[in-house]
Amino acid sequence: MRAYTGHYELQTYGRGLENLVVTDTRVAEIDGNRGRLLYRGYPVEQLAEACSFEEVAYLVLHGELPGRDEAAAWTEELKRWRKPPAEAFAALARIPSNAHPLAIYRTMLTIAACHIPEAERTDLEAQWRRPARILSWSAALAAGAIRHLHGEQPLPARDELGFAANFLAQALGREPDEDQARAFEVSMIVQAEHGLHAAAFAALIVISTGADLGSAVLAGMGALSGIRHGGANQLAFENLARLHDPGHARRWAREKLAQRYRFPGFGHRIYKCPDPRVRVLEPYAKRLLETNDLSDRWHTYAALREEVEGALSEKGIYANVDGITGLIYHPLGLPASAFPIPFCLAIETGWMAHCLEYLPSGKMIEPGAVCLLD
Ligand code: COA
Repeated sequence: MRAYTGHYELQTYGRGLENLVVTDTRVAEIDGNRGRLLYRGYPVEQLAEACSFEEVAYLVLHGELPGRDEAAAWTEELKRWRKPPAEAFAALARIPSNAHPLAIYRTMLTIAACHIPEAERTDLEAQWRRPARILSWSAALAAGAIRHLHGEQPLPARDELGFAANFLAQALGREPDEDQARAFEVSMIVQAEHGLHAAAFAALIVISTGADLGSAVLAGMGALSGIRHGGANQLAFENLARLHDPGHARRWAREKLAQRYRFPGFGHRIYKCPDPRVRVLEPYAKRLLETNDLSDRWHTYAALREEVEGALSEKGIYANVDGITGLIYHPLGLPASAFPIPFCLAIETGWMAHCLEYLPSGKMIEPGAVCLLD
């Protein structure tokens, strides 16, 4: 925390805006000391147990779980938007297949967003018409971006499948089995919202200027791509994939600890205790790895986690959600470079909820900087 006097009178601020409050919210509650995450009052464990991604998305956006009619209408609306404008797919021809998948997906969404009618209308009513379209277009575009990595053509949506299973089918070109589909859906549920993290804040800044919801989501995507944020799941898995066995993991961790290495997949700005999302996802990851003859990878992960937490938990550093999701995505057949994509897809829900919550009373967000020039 630094303190300055001058143009801003006496001001204190923390590096990275740590501990700074910029607004109030009813979307999520995060207790970083007890490891609790609630969406709209519901513990994430309970939602992961009992809900579909569609229900959770509705809850996050609207504040209440949908009743039967609302759930049916919302699911229908999401299905209605499963076919994004063809122009967004046509753009793939101009994007190199070695571009980062998140950049490919973001570029496609930029083009699709130009096709939202009345995009210039930024009143609350018009903004509220956008979440279903953005979410469903996003899923199809994200799947198309993943296929582009292998030079494959986008696939049409599978109307009979739910949101998460359909995304996987479109991305992988095969229908996931029940276990795979549920593991992936639960990973989307626990990543659907996480307060005003850096990407959500980026989205909030953009919406506060009077911009449209699509632009806010695109800003969130840019922020999420960084290696300290949504890019960490790819790096965490790539590290793990280089480790042959638990013994290797322990030796490598000790070597890196001595170098004060920043381990992707560990540490969190808010959680200074075990990340509740890790607790939910670990059994799904373990089971998927076991059924795919990849138990070794599970044991290597467990050894790495134990070694790093053993050394760093005193500092409040534990395994985070980005260290475990790759162990669900990998046995499904997603390439590591694509791992940030499902995280992004899920959490767009939370960004939109924060934007829509902020809009009615929102003031343009514009902080200051202390000038150090003489
Ligand atoms: N591995 C090793 N040390 C870590 C660490 C990690 N993953 N994360 C934080 N630290 C250490 C820092 O080196 C620093 O140590 P110091 O005080 O001795 O200098 C201390 O913890 C505080 O780090 P800081 O970067 O100020 O904390 P933060 O609250 O800003 O960190 C993250 C939050 C997420 C940026 C950070 O934990 C990180 O970079 N993690 C790895 C990337 C990642 O997994 N991101 C996804 C988060 S869900």
